[in-house]
Amino acid sequence: MSIKPHAVRGTQDLFGNEQRIFTFLISLARQLSSLYGFQEITTPIFEFIEVFKRTLGEESDVVGKEMYVFNDRGGETLCLRPEFTAGIVRALISRGMLDKLPLKLFSSGPVFRYERPQKGRKRQFHQLNFEIFGIKDPIADIELISMAVHLLTKLEIKNKTLLEINSLGDKDSRLQYRQALVDYFSNYKEDLSEDSKIRLEKNPLRILDSKDENDKKISLNAPLITNYYSDISKKFFDEVQEGLTILGIDYKLNLNLVRGLDYYCHTVFEFTTEDLGSQNAILAGGRYDYLVSMMGSSKDVPAVGFAGGLERLAALYQKEITLPRPVTLIPIGPNAEKEAMIISNNLRYHGIKLEVITNGNLGKKMKKSSSINSLYSIIFGDTELESEFFIVKSMDDFIEEKVLKSKLSQYLLSKLNNLLIF
Ligand code: HAM
Repeated sequence: MSIKPHAVRGTQDLFGNEQRIFTFLISLARQLSSLYGFQEITTPIFEFIEVFKRTLGEESDVVGKEMYVFNDRGGETLCLRPEFTAGIVRALISRGMLDKLPLKLFSSGPVFRYERPQKGRKRQFHQLNFEIFGIKDPIADIELISMAVHLLTKLEIKNKTLLEINSLGDKDSRLQYRQALVDYFSNYKEDLSEDSKIRLEKNPLRILDSKDENDKKISLNAPLITNYYSDISKKFFDEVQEGLTILGIDYKLNLNLVRGLDYYCHTVFEFTTEDLGSQNAILAGGRYDYLVSMMGSSKDVPAVGFAGGLERLAALYQKEITLPRPVTLIPIGPNAEKEAMIISNNLRYHGIKLEVITNGNLGKKMKKSSSINSLYSIIFGDTELESEFFIVKSMDDFIEEKVLKSKLSQYLLSKLNNLLIF
């Protein structure tokens, strides 16, 4: 017995309404990004491993455990992108685009992480990604967050989400805070979860967002990052919060929000939801002023961005997206079938979605026409060809009208209004 082929664990095929939602979300994000001055960039799905390894943090889960790494036939060590940001920074540097700042860049597509699959967590998933390069002021952080709110509002899912924000401060603030956490958590080393014992050595900030109950209890009295901000960091974060307040954007301060990738500084944020179980982050990102120089550029370039998980956005969106309804041509007899080729060509060039139905008798053809949810059926045989008047039947109220062949496109266009495809 042959084994039925199946998709790789953690991947999925998209079809039907799910595919339509993805297409819709990408097109909406693309339009929105254009409204805010973003240009679209497409970077390769695989890159040299170095692009992600150091920049995301060798100690991060993504680099440590989740990257799809492989050697190609030429012996190069490559990896499938686990996110967009580092690849986009690589592109800016290798294309010499750092002379043209500021730049706002939008991307979308698949990303890959070898995580344990569960609801809302895939190994191949898709992101909408937005980055702003070259603006050091908090205005960029505020604009980006307000664009995220705009996206969620347009999708009518804003009320299902909560915006959580934090600041990791600048490099010095972060270093000092890290030391304070090491000192604090070392006192509880034996009580920490196995994962957090490792984090204590490698990335103590991540203990703060551990899901382990005992880790959470220990974290309650951990030093607060707010006590380690430099004056500049504090001012920056105050201005971000002030901007959000001016725009009427609600947020929750979450001092334990540290993010899983190492390149962040200053503002970090996540839009979370209670509707999707434990995989609750929908859109997430923050500022990363040191990543460009970390990647080898001689310039320090301020940057801020976020990515949204398409699978999670789609799960929250959950609406049925219907396809535009077609017009059907129902030719009767060989002469009409030949003429149908010419007429269908002509109507499609006018942007009218059209199906030609040739199988079966008239009854069967009409049945097929209603089963594909057609708006109008145009029925014609030798008599209509001779008189040049065709019968156009509305499939909603079954009213028939006689329309001159040469006026068919004009007639349908007036009826279809904005149902045209292009
Ligand atoms: P991230 O938090 O790793 O950030 O991912 C962003 C979003 O991708 C998450 O909020 C979630 O919606 C989605 N996501 C992450 N992992 C999975 C998964 N296994 N399955 C399904 N969805 C997932 C980044 O990737 C940063 N590059 C964002 C960024 C852009 N920061 C600055 N610019």
